[in-house]
Amino acid sequence: MNDIFETYQLKHGATMRSRIALAPMTTYSSNPDLTLSDEEETYYNARAKEFGMVITAATAVSKNAQAFDNQISIRDERYLESMRRLATAINKEGSRSVLQIHHGGRMNKPGLYPNQDIVSASAVKAERPYAQTPRKLRTSEIYDIIDDFANATRLAILAGFDGVELHGANTYLIQQFFSPHSNRRDDEFGGSVERRLKFPLTLVDRVLAVKKQYGKDDFIVGYRLSPEELEEPGITLADTMILVDHLATRDLDYIHLSQGNFRNRSLRDKTDTEPIITKVKRVVGDRTAIIGAGGIDSLDDIEEALALGYDLVALGTIALSDAKIVTHLREGVTPSRVFDETSLLPSPLFERLKSWRGLSDKGYSFK
Ligand SMILES: Cc1cc2nc3c(=O)[nH]c(=O)nc-3n(C[C@H](O)[C@H](O)[C@H](O)COP(=O)(O)O)c2cc1C
Repeated sequence: MNDIFETYQLKHGATMRSRIALAPMTTYSSNPDLTLSDEEETYYNARAKEFGMVITAATAVSKNAQAFDNQISIRDERYLESMRRLATAINKEGSRSVLQIHHGGRMNKPGLYPNQDIVSASAVKAERPYAQTPRKLRTSEIYDIIDDFANATRLAILAGFDGVELHGANTYLIQQFFSPHSNRRDDEFGGSVERRLKFPLTLVDRVLAVKKQYGKDDFIVGYRLSPEELEEPGITLADTMILVDHLATRDLDYIHLSQGNFRNRSLRDKTDTEPIITKVKRVVGDRTAIIGAGGIDSLDDIEEALALGYDLVALGTIALSDAKIVTHLREGVTPSRVFDETSLLPSPLFERLKSWRGLSDKGYSFK
């Protein structure tokens, strides 16, 4: 496919110099005050030279939103300067800068931050060894969190970002409201699948209203989601088709599918052999772009992803080891799977990756 490296225009006019985005990746490397560190700035600036769009690490919209050690924050005006540095590090290289806005909900690690209130849709613990039973949010507090996302969007516009991505994937708070596992509410935010949609869709509408008030017409708004959950009860593909249909009626620039592999079929129903992207594309049609992620490591993978129906692709792990990944793909050079000083990674991320099982099985090594 020849148009991988050609200019791509999103629905509201923003242009990308290729169809390749950097996947959002947490770096665990902020300064102790949760502002962007110099090492993070270097990491982003290097990737911005390569990618059509850089989607940042999950960035916490409030104190209770923080899910990871040294996770950058956009909770209030005090973080504006830090966010300006991040936007500038990306914008100055001609890549589109998209800030991923996030709340961890019940996935926040207990004890990570002093006096943090671990909250979710309902008081149901995640099926994870370290999880703590969260406190169920009062209805009025849900509106406060929606305000936090709206405020983060306003700050992202002031900081100079080209867009925001709502982190509705990977089991965090937005997904927790959509999931029948974590959402057992019986008020306007829970119960039927329609009521479980209320939190994500209200968020999207608020973010779009903030864009209209403060942003340019081409300000990018995207939504990331995980199509299925393995828990019982859990999000099914039937639920997700309803979600993406509603998302497609909104003025979003893209829907981003977060999967272990971009070719995935249903994980819940092994008899269903149709790729998830085929189902999503059938519902969404050309109403908005779809980004694929998960195991996209080569030009062949990108071509396969575009042929399957994705409009754009996001590269994760391979873009951590190889800081020049897009140049290498374009020039036919085999991407580097060696993590070393040329990877230009913040040191806490480098150290953390060393301890991750599974990377060596995928051919990665450390120097
Ligand atoms: C170190 C690391 C941090 C990540 N942090 C985030 C994150 O902040 N937000 C998010 O949506 N996904 C996050 N992910 C998931 C990636 O965006 C991506 O979906 C996943 O790594 C699969 O793509 P890959 O096979 O190309 O690595 C992270 C992945 C890695 C490896």
